[in-house]
Amino acid sequence: MSVTGKNRVVTTHKLMEMKQRGEKIAMLTAYDYTMASIIDEALGVDIVLVGDSAANIMAGHETTLPITLDQMIYHAQSVVRAVRNALVIVDLPFGSYQGNSKEALASAIRIMKESAADAVKLEGGEEVLDSVRRILSAGIPVMGHLGLMPQSINKYGTYTVRAKDEHEASKLLNDAQLLEHEGCFALLLEKIPATLGAQVSKKIAIPVIGIGAGGGVDGQVLVSHDMLGMNKNFSPRFLRRYANLKENMLEAFSNYIKDVKSGDFPNNNEEY
Ligand code: KIV
Repeated sequence: MSVTGKNRVVTTHKLMEMKQRGEKIAMLTAYDYTMASIIDEALGVDIVLVGDSAANIMAGHETTLPITLDQMIYHAQSVVRAVRNALVIVDLPFGSYQGNSKEALASAIRIMKESAADAVKLEGGEEVLDSVRRILSAGIPVMGHLGLMPQSINKYGTYTVRAKDEHEASKLLNDAQLLEHEGCFALLLEKIPATLGAQVSKKIAIPVIGIGAGGGVDGQVLVSHDMLGMNKNFSPRFLRRYANLKENMLEAFSNYIKDVKSGDFPNNNEEY
């Protein structure tokens, strides 16, 4: 039970059972109450991720690095207030867990205490294992994140597909096994070859959720604003658009402007 007293329907245990049954897991991002309510109303969304992509989508930053722990907690609180069914996972932001495991635990505890989310996610394998271990030892479920790790963009210098060569692919496979062994309840794989995604999913027993990691993993995640077509400048190969909200919104805004300018809005039924 979360500290708000609500029992969410999806648990880490249920996700494991889904993998065992071969039932695919659907995950979407949310950063605010209204979007999270609509996502959760579409029953069948298993996980809502309060991603640090909020830095890009909500605040317009070029990378995910600037978002702070306080800002992530604010977004998480808004999402948690809305979600009744899905499991809510919150990203530990850049700088809140890489320093040492004590700092990582303190950050994870703040997220859990102040937002009442269900779990945290962090990027990295072997390098962050101490932090993962310490967070797990406090009873906080952890999702790992390997492949393209946007918090390391300054190291990579590019957002292109990761782990295409043998060396990086075998490190990723090893990291996935380490994270599973440590006790992570799930793993997110971002932008890697589909064959590697499928290989990881077969090798480890915990659910593997992909974004640009092919169809051989146990579930998929997309950034909601991208799949709704609100951001037409971002068109990676893995992105399927399910709506054209940007066009719908532009049309609505220009109709409103037209009506205000012409004096058509408000009419007699829209005034007191
Ligand atoms: O922050 C985020 O949105 C993510 C994506 C990979 C889903 O981690």
